[in-house]
Amino acid sequence: MITKLTIDKIMEATDIVEVIGEFVQLKKRGANYVGLSPFVNEKTPSFTVSPSKGIFKDFSSGKGGSAITFLMELEKFTYPEALKWLAKKYGIEIEETEESKENKEADSRRESLMVVSSYAAKFFQEAMWETEEGTNIGLSYFKERGFTPEIIKKFELGYSPDQWEAFTSAAIKAGYQPEFLEESGLSVKRDNGSMYDRYRGRVMFPIHSFTGRVIAFGGRTLKNDKNVPKYVNSPESEIYHKSNVLYGLYFAKKAIRDLDNCYLVEGYADVLSVFQAGIENVVASSGTSLTVEQIRLIGRLTKNITILYDGDAAGIKASLRGLDLILEEGLNVKVVLFPDGHDPDSYVRQVGSSAFKQYIDQNKKDFIIYKTSILLKDAGNDPIRKAEVIREVVESIAKIPDSIKASVFIKECSYQMQIEERVLLSELNKMRLSKAKKNGQQAERIEAYPEEPPFEEQAQLTKEVNNGLYQEREVVRLLLLYGSRMIDWDGIANTYIGPFVIAELSDVTFEDPTCKLFTDIYRQQVENGVLPDDQFFIHHENKAIVDIAVDMLTTKYTLSENWYEMHNIFVPDEQMNMRATVLGAIFHLKKQKVGEILEDLRKELQNSTNETDQEILMTRYMQLKKVEKHISDYLGSVILK
Ligand code: GTP
Ligand code: MN
Repeated sequence: MITKLTIDKIMEATDIVEVIGEFVQLKKRGANYVGLSPFVNEKTPSFTVSPSKGIFKDFSSGKGGSAITFLMELEKFTYPEALKWLAKKYGIEIEETEESKENKEADSRRESLMVVSSYAAKFFQEAMWETEEGTNIGLSYFKERGFTPEIIKKFELGYSPDQWEAFTSAAIKAGYQPEFLEESGLSVKRDNGSMYDRYRGRVMFPIHSFTGRVIAFGGRTLKNDKNVPKYVNSPESEIYHKSNVLYGLYFAKKAIRDLDNCYLVEGYADVLSVFQAGIENVVASSGTSLTVEQIRLIGRLTKNITILYDGDAAGIKASLRGLDLILEEGLNVKVVLFPDGHDPDSYVRQVGSSAFKQYIDQNKKDFIIYKTSILLKDAGNDPIRKAEVIREVVESIAKIPDSIKASVFIKECSYQMQIEERVLLSELNKMRLSKAKKNGQQAERIEAYPEEPPFEEQAQLTKEVNNGLYQEREVVRLLLLYGSRMIDWDGIANTYIGPFVIAELSDVTFEDPTCKLFTDIYRQQVENGVLPDDQFFIHHENKAIVDIAVDMLTTKYTLSENWYEMHNIFVPDEQMNMRATVLGAIFHLKKQKVGEILEDLRKELQNSTNETDQEILMTRYMQLKKVEKHISDYLGSVILK
């Protein structure tokens, strides 16, 4: 763990404009800087950086936060990775708290395996480019297959000499420990303890981690012998977990994010050919069926996957079910089928890159629509098999977490299958219900797809005000903005606003999880004798906390006055009467909570038939009614606005 002291040093040194300026062209406007959003495509700048608050807000994508959040969003760093990046930029030495002995050992073992793998990648490259055997056999094979020297170098392809110990003995001579040669799978131990090379006379494809380090290899044979496996791959190791890795992801990640789509192919060669054709957002699952971890890896970069299938894959139908896994993760899936006998690699070589791109655009189909058509064709006119198809298709749709998206598919498939939408919907709701029951959750019924967008902003706001979310958020906003300020009650006694608000609301339960978490954290800090400021929350490790803090710091009250003048908006200055603002927020929230209890009591009264019960309920009701009136009167007297 990075020490608190180091984190503080990093935060102090970090200039958010400087950091973001490395990725986004920023222009000064008033006290802030603006630029084009790096997260979405836009023509008018909506991306704002406030150096004084140390935050950015992207009004197009809704993202916002500190320099750390920015790096996490854009570079897909983890929290410690972002800290390390900043430390490097500002030349701050990172101190870490003592790790346990086991952790340290595991770390250094992993590091040793990475170092050995990186050495091996270099060895195989040199063996290919700088030896006669390598150029004659390895390099000429790649060239024959149409790979350019640029792509061969970029992907660090290589060749392992056709000898028993060429690599192993070179590695031992260079000082690498036999233990790691064996664990990485590069060398294999004989019974007598001596070691030999796993890869002999094969062309080598290094497999890179998300951050670009070599962690494993695939080696392809050059023989046309059915008894020799075409590919030999690294075994699982401490640094290589097959189900967690996608071939080519390191080289593709930027394009995947920029183009908001990821092409998925089957083989190493497909990745190289498609990439070389200028389609750089391509990865391979390398022969195995896609795992949830791999899908999530892609999901961090884009919600859109397009699968490029071999034309002759008999396994397509078998793989259809596997794709439900992608739907379940909330991703959109499209599929492209190549003409019989072609895989992406052979097809792009035959038709060239622009025809290839055109083919993809014209032949990509939505997975569910595609699945429906394949299954329907299969079922023919058999009514029983057709019923089976309906069930299977609706089963896929039921996996889609987004209800609106699911209902759109229901509509499309109802048309495709010539079945009433209502029938499909009831089937869908049944499945969702039973799945929710199994998980102990409430199921949301899906009605026919509404023509109007369901959540208009106004409706959302009314809903927030009615259910008290607005009041809860208002308290969070005041704590954040003014918590460490003093309030002067009567010219004699003054208190800090933060602790005062927290104490006043000790009898109130926050319903919104983020507001609750926020006030809990605030209370804890106050109990520790600290008054947390906006920077504390902006740099918090919990993303929900950062999000709400940034949201609150960028609402209408806190934008610069110029901005309001420019837009002719009149904002009453809440700071002019801090007392009214703070008490108003506290008592509006209390009034809201009392109102909710009253509403519950009213319902209970209506349903109750027992007279004594009714009496007790009535007494409580009247008491609370009085409380409500007190609060209203009080609000009337403090709030002058
Ligand atoms: P080329 O035949 O050179 O075009 O290779 P490819 O990358 O297109 O491979 P192919 O489509 O035959 O297979 C897809 C992927 O499955 C490969 O990239 C490998 O990851 C994996 N694979 C293929 N054959 C074998 C094998 O014999 N053993 C293992 N372990 N994996 C294999
Ligand atoms: Mn192939």
